[in-house]
Amino acid sequence: MKKHNFSAGPSILSEFTIKTTAAAVENFAGMGLSILEISHRSKEFVAVSDEARAMVKELLDVPSGYEVVFLGGGASLQFCMVPYNLLAKKAAYLDTGTWASNAIKEAKLFGEVDVVASSKEANYTYIPKGYTIPEDADYFHFTSNNTIYGTEMRYDPDVKVRMVCDMSSDMFSRPVDVSKYDIIYAGAQKNLAPAGVTLIIVREEALGHVERAIPTMLDYRTHIKKESMFNTPPVLPIYSALQTLKWYKEQGGVKAIEKINLEKAAILYDEIDGNKLFKGTVAVEDRSIMNVCFIMNDEYKELEADFASFAAAAGMVGIKGHRSAGGFRASLYNAMPKSSVEALITCMKEFEKQH
Ligand SMILES: Cc1ncc(COP(=O)(O)O)c(C=O)c1O
Repeated sequence: MKKHNFSAGPSILSEFTIKTTAAAVENFAGMGLSILEISHRSKEFVAVSDEARAMVKELLDVPSGYEVVFLGGGASLQFCMVPYNLLAKKAAYLDTGTWASNAIKEAKLFGEVDVVASSKEANYTYIPKGYTIPEDADYFHFTSNNTIYGTEMRYDPDVKVRMVCDMSSDMFSRPVDVSKYDIIYAGAQKNLAPAGVTLIIVREEALGHVERAIPTMLDYRTHIKKESMFNTPPVLPIYSALQTLKWYKEQGGVKAIEKINLEKAAILYDEIDGNKLFKGTVAVEDRSIMNVCFIMNDEYKELEADFASFAAAAGMVGIKGHRSAGGFRASLYNAMPKSSVEALITCMKEFEKQH
């Protein structure tokens, strides 16, 4: 039976990415060797790394003055690298969920942190608005998509200070005005590649303004200077990332991908709103197009486990909600075909008919 992979991350990758990665595991670039066993400094891999960084720039229209870096350590390492490199005195953070608050915790190790707003009291079911960012903040940090709760800021805020964004779960899901940001970072395991690499886009001018000594490996300048080859990079995930980027280009780029993403999310939210058994969990205007969270309506609460089994029997994988949000979460990342979303909707309709 066909499986429909709604996992939140690691998550679905395009068939193209999986097939070309599998082929490179057998025989990379006609070298007669697996990509798992070649030097990261071989000319064949250096070409992959260069092309991947160039394609990120092309797909997101990255202006000059920015560099693209591939690092290990996950998005979580960026929670400390960002303040290490940018926080001289004070930073402003928006608290929209677990990942945002993890970033806040790390920043506090480096200086004053002004949490400009938080929706924690409502279990992060909305994005705070109308907050003020202090003009003397070194930067403003936010999480564009809150993977666990299913809220998203699908726009690039206008702020008067430097801006840093964790785009781990909605990178490449829409065009982004990179020129508004100083650092954008994203763990690969949602919209890019298998886990193990983190994509960072950094404005070079933003670096070098803190007085503290920065350990070599945690200094963005090290990796910019060495073109992500200061130490051994995660070779296989970078190869897969390049395949996904090629596939994005083939789909027509991020604008075309956004169009499909909007359609996929709209049909699923319509079903949630129209089906008597289900309801959404977050403020309608803040609904994520990447992670669609829903629960059973109050009078059908006892059917939750039954629906989970029913959906699993129909091939749905990974729709259980995060333990801190409960219910269900269908992640509709870029590689998720519309037909899988339609299969989930059919499943919800059939379950409704039975009750
Ligand atoms: C928005 C966001 N930020 C950060 C992380 C942490 O990423 P990593 O596991 O790569 O450290 C996640 C993981 O799901 C996430 O969704």
